[in-house]
Amino acid sequence: MGINEELIETARAMVAPGKGILAADESSGTIKRRFDAIGVESTEDNRRDYREMLFRTAGANEFISGVILYDETLRQKGADGTQLVDVLRGQNLIPGIKVDAGAVALPFAENELVTQGLDGLRERFAEYKQLGAKFSKWRAVITIGDGIPSTYCIQANAHALARYAALSQEAGIVPMVEPEVLLDGAHSIERCHEVSILTLRTLFRELAKQRVLLEGLVLKTNMVLSGNQASNRAPASEVARLTVDCFKQSVPASVPGIVFLSGGMPDDEATINLDAVSREAQKVGVPWEISFSYGRGLQGAPQKAWSGKAENVEAAQQAYYHRAKVTAAARQGAYSTAMENS
Ligand code: 13P
Repeated sequence: MGINEELIETARAMVAPGKGILAADESSGTIKRRFDAIGVESTEDNRRDYREMLFRTAGANEFISGVILYDETLRQKGADGTQLVDVLRGQNLIPGIKVDAGAVALPFAENELVTQGLDGLRERFAEYKQLGAKFSKWRAVITIGDGIPSTYCIQANAHALARYAALSQEAGIVPMVEPEVLLDGAHSIERCHEVSILTLRTLFRELAKQRVLLEGLVLKTNMVLSGNQASNRAPASEVARLTVDCFKQSVPASVPGIVFLSGGMPDDEATINLDAVSREAQKVGVPWEISFSYGRGLQGAPQKAWSGKAENVEAAQQAYYHRAKVTAAARQGAYSTAMENS
């Protein structure tokens, strides 16, 4: 199989019908914040125990196709000495790796960020390939506020995303390109719609310029939402209509799949909105698989249930299994709130 065929096959498997992706790629700082919230110290062993528990959850692979890892996890061994990558492979889960080095201040652009991490990336990809990564992720953030985002910020982030995506494909690793228009702010859903379209159009222009194979990538992005401080937040039906419209205006049909981040939406909202978007997509007809790649949306409940105690492992795995199951149902437009009590 040629490199392109392999990329296409992996990208399709990542968005296989009925399945989504677990984002477990929290950086050291982020996982510390999550652990602080449940009173667990963020040690290497605790991070391993927690993540291994998720990866070994029996039956979750019916709903989950792959997992995004942080650098540490890709190199880590489970409690019994098995590489965690092999634990994933044993469960038929595709291993992925977060490769960006985080967002930093964009010079001469107040309150705007650009994602860094391109230096040495070709060499890092060669190593990640050796370690077993089949896909990668790079997150760019676009902030809505007074007079922002600037075209400069959208351009700079799209350029970096495309540079990253080309290097990833060159290494035979599927890029998951993630432009995230942030939920933070008091903006209207219409403003999010407009900014998301502009961001995605700019991104796909840049991907084309940099010769990225569209069939061999996955787009990870935000739903079109009212800001979290908006006084009148749009309902799920409006989220669905404007999200699908945004993609129709900006995402080429050859992209195999679009997956959502949960972005700080509460679990129930992340599920209900995904269900509404899936129903809308089925109604109007779309060329892409539409799915999820949630971090907080899948992990909030199991983190709370676990709270760092070995005796809670079973309850935490049940909580994770349940969120994976209902989110996968929502991805097919087959969710109902009654499922929450099953
Ligand atoms: P959330 O679903 O918690 O937003 O995380 C997804 C992710 O990978 C952000 O980069």
